[in-house]
Amino acid sequence: MAKIIYIEHQGAEHEIDVAPGRSVMQGAVDNGVLGILAECGGACSCGTCHVYIDPAWVDKVGAKNVAEAGMLEDVCAAKPNSRLSCQIIVTDELDGLIVRMPEKQI
Ligand code: FES
Repeated sequence: MAKIIYIEHQGAEHEIDVAPGRSVMQGAVDNGVLGILAECGGACSCGTCHVYIDPAWVDKVGAKNVAEAGMLEDVCAAKPNSRLSCQIIVTDELDGLIVRMPEKQI
């Protein structure tokens, strides 16, 4: 298990143990964390699982692929550390990962 720390836009924090192989998005949805809608279920086609990766973790989560990069062009309030949480697969190395939710997903 890896502990993923989800921080809602208003500041509420959720520390969730997520099994390796699950996505960061699935860890949130499975545990009722608000702020990640994931309307496409992880198909990289909705952009409603947008999160901001804590600066200390940006390099550790790996690079986004072309499809994700394209989808991120259409999300609200994108920043350089924006990612789609459905495209980040949890590994033991991501234990302690901090992600913050944007003010809105749509
Ligand atoms: Fe739709 Fe991530 S869940 S793009």
